[in-house]
Amino acid sequence: MSRTVVISGGGTGIGRATADVFARAGDRVVLVGRRSDVLKRTADELADALARHPGDDGPRGTGTGEVVTIAADVAETHGARHVRDVVSERFGRVDVLVNSAGGNAALGSPAGDGDAVEQAAEHWVGNFRSNVLTAVLLTEALRDLLTAPGGRVVFVSSIAAYRGSGSGSYGASKAALHPYMYDLAASLGPTGITVNAVAPGYVADTEFFRGQLAPERERTLIDQTLNGRAATPHDIARTMHWLASPDSGHVTAQIVQVNGGAERGR
Ligand SMILES: NC(=O)c1ccc[n+]([C@@H]2O[C@H](COP(=O)([O-])OP(=O)(O)OC[C@H]3O[C@@H](n4cnc5c(N)ncnc54)[C@H](OP(=O)(O)O)[C@@H]3O)[C@@H](O)[C@H]2O)c1
Repeated sequence: MSRTVVISGGGTGIGRATADVFARAGDRVVLVGRRSDVLKRTADELADALARHPGDDGPRGTGTGEVVTIAADVAETHGARHVRDVVSERFGRVDVLVNSAGGNAALGSPAGDGDAVEQAAEHWVGNFRSNVLTAVLLTEALRDLLTAPGGRVVFVSSIAAYRGSGSGSYGASKAALHPYMYDLAASLGPTGITVNAVAPGYVADTEFFRGQLAPERERTLIDQTLNGRAATPHDIARTMHWLASPDSGHVTAQIVQVNGGAERGR
């Protein structure tokens, strides 16, 4: 049966690849992000690709691989509520929630006019908004719509929660998702809903580094893996698709490392 899959950050990078994987399997994907033009372009491209190369269960199977967009800032309560209102009215349920929206607010130009305290405040608040509030507010907004039993929630953490991220604030914001994920898994477990997270390492072909990843830094990140390569967005997407499948029904409250072994380190 076709599922309704809400993907925050679905317009780019890991979220976009996740939408591709679920839509090819015949699910309806709901892409959420702040930029409506980016969402629309992605939706058009995914729908076009689906029409040309349908998935195994796509138009020939039970599902239609429908792609829907909702523009919203889910770090804001009104944005999260807007997503809930639209999803509730149009589809009435959420079978899978993928919280991929996020990013590193400490990347790019230094904040706070060079004042260390201002800069720290800006980076820490920015990263908690970007990575914690986006995931928590959207999850709280949608939790009553989750299909029970069988519903799935997946968070996108990061290797930075284990190895740091340079400034501390990004990794700390990802680590903050872990106890929330665990408490949610405990709360929803009796209803047959699983809650898990993935922890990617360096993923190429996303907007995460805003085109500013220095070649030496990229080399270092790749050298930290045991298989000598960057992840593709589809590496992460396929793991999340498995976590959302009936086959993983006894897997909950877990953080799956999808980083080529880099979490263990070299
Ligand atoms: N790339 C990596 O190496 C890597 C490694 C580990 C973990 N991650 C994590 O993976 C997740 C996906 O990132 P990515 O690598 O795919 O980078 P990305 O291409 O920058 O994707 C992030 C997405 O989140 C959306 N977003 C950000 N803030 C939002 C908000 N407040 N409300 C709604 N949407 C928001 C962005 O769209 P809008 O700007 O249009 O809102 C964008 O589509 C993030 O949580 C990131 O921290 C990435």
